[in-house]
Amino acid sequence: MNKWWHDKAAYQIYPKSFYDANGDGIGDLQGIISKLDYLEELGIDIIWISPIYKSPFVDQGYDISDYYEIAPEFGTMEDFEELLAQAKKRGIYIVMDLVINHCSDQHEWFQKALADPEGEYADYFYFRAGKNGNPPSNYRSYFGGSCWEPVPGTDQYYFHAFAKEQPDLNWENPKMRQEIYDMINWWLEKGLAGFRIDAIINIKKDINFPDLEPDGPDGLVSYFRVVEQTRGVGQLLKDLKNNTFAKYDAFTVGEVFNMHEEELPEFIGEDGHFSTIFDFSAHCLSEGEHGWYDAPDIDFKEWREAIVNSQLEVQKVGFKANIIENHDEPRGVSRFLPEYARNEAGTKMLGTISLLLRGIPFLYQGQEIGMQNCVWDSSEEWDDISTKDQYQVAKAAGLSEKEALDKCARLSRDNARTPMQWSGERCAGFTQGTPWLKVNPNYSKINVEKQQQEEDSVLHYYKKLIALRKSEEFKEVFTYGRFAPAYEEQENIMAFYRYLDKEETASEESVGVFHKRQENQEPASSRKRVLVAANFGKDAAELPLKCKVKKVLLSNLPENQAGETLVLAGCGTMVLECE
Ligand code: GLC
Ligand code: CA
Repeated sequence: MNKWWHDKAAYQIYPKSFYDANGDGIGDLQGIISKLDYLEELGIDIIWISPIYKSPFVDQGYDISDYYEIAPEFGTMEDFEELLAQAKKRGIYIVMDLVINHCSDQHEWFQKALADPEGEYADYFYFRAGKNGNPPSNYRSYFGGSCWEPVPGTDQYYFHAFAKEQPDLNWENPKMRQEIYDMINWWLEKGLAGFRIDAIINIKKDINFPDLEPDGPDGLVSYFRVVEQTRGVGQLLKDLKNNTFAKYDAFTVGEVFNMHEEELPEFIGEDGHFSTIFDFSAHCLSEGEHGWYDAPDIDFKEWREAIVNSQLEVQKVGFKANIIENHDEPRGVSRFLPEYARNEAGTKMLGTISLLLRGIPFLYQGQEIGMQNCVWDSSEEWDDISTKDQYQVAKAAGLSEKEALDKCARLSRDNARTPMQWSGERCAGFTQGTPWLKVNPNYSKINVEKQQQEEDSVLHYYKKLIALRKSEEFKEVFTYGRFAPAYEEQENIMAFYRYLDKEETASEESVGVFHKRQENQEPASSRKRVLVAANFGKDAAELPLKCKVKKVLLSNLPENQAGETLVLAGCGTMVLECE
């Protein structure tokens, strides 16, 4: 069935770094409101805002101390309501971040649990006795160290998959679940369009917390491995949806790592737990065995294969949300493009691929101007809890300070969190005060104001790309059209068709009556067909054209040509309508 979000373009705002309206160095809600016109002009329909709830900010707002309050750093509830109203005026939907695997240790529930271990709030969390002076199990948290934190003066520990300031909520407790459902419905009643749902796969626990085989010299095992072995999250997710989102036709996008492959239909199928989940298949390619320090660089062929396979699998079932970066990842331009391609042409090429894949495109703030990783001169410049941990892991593994700095600089989450580059003025025009995090020194070259003035800038290209995707003529093919890879035999080419079959209606296609993996298929009887092709190589490439070109829809370089053959300059990309 067609849904209201299928044909939308979404944009993630990391509020702390978006725009500071009152000069305290921290982005805020009034800052977002003042940029709504900018986002409307870009063609954005849905805005996902990273957490703006009250929080001690140990993990930048992903540690919530009050689900019903706006963090004063960002503004007030009135500001938020104004944002909702102003967005609505422009036809923009607002989606909040939903962090419900854990809360902050400063949340009232946790404080009450600590104060009264026998009371009802203790059962909102996981408290367990230690084993012979050791924690209850040997799990390593995502941010380093044991998942178990001792409760002073007792033999008890509490469980946290992330930082110790982020105690996990006990989803086996129906009372706790009901409190979460009430909270979600309270926000939806306010007029939210939905949620991005944080770390949600973690809510299901094996409450016996069995020890597993250690995978490191610390004698611990990564919590990733534990989640892989845990079953039964589906029932919880179903219950969550039925009690909340389903009643409001809300849009939900899950942050799901470690799903069991066969669960895809259950997660994003016709009646799935979520509207969509992010596609992290390309991002997972740079997972190190032991941490960021031994993470491999991206290899073009592996990257292409990961995306192609994911597209072919997902279209049988539903829609994923496509990203090149977010607030947890380094900048896509610095990660997925070879060094020679980290320029305007390459940036446009990467954007073309990401935005025209099948799925719901999510841009991350600054992507539309091609923001890049920052240069980090010292580990002192980092704020992010995870980067700091990975830096220690790297040094503990024997890397020198310089090596550890370089390795972690590649993958640091702070790369995405540096202030948005609005202009060439002081602090990139982000704030009148002192920014909370370093500004990327390249802001005089890469900024919104400059790109608004240059006709062939990355920003203008992104606008065209989004406009094309949403245009009356091509909306259907880019939303519901099938994906078929093309030119896979070519070394440096990433290319695919998007097409609509003659017989099928859009709604049939949207639910994916598409069962076999169809490799290199050349649609014979399509009623609309588009070829998207990109040359990730340094040198020009000439490719045989397997279809007659009706119209060039987009091209990022004047050297590109589509005639008898397709000629793509190095870092060239074209979008062609085929006969
Ligand atoms: C998600 C968030 C990340 C956060 C973590 C814990 O992965 O995207 O920023 O640190 O969950 O809430
Ligand atoms: Ca501010």
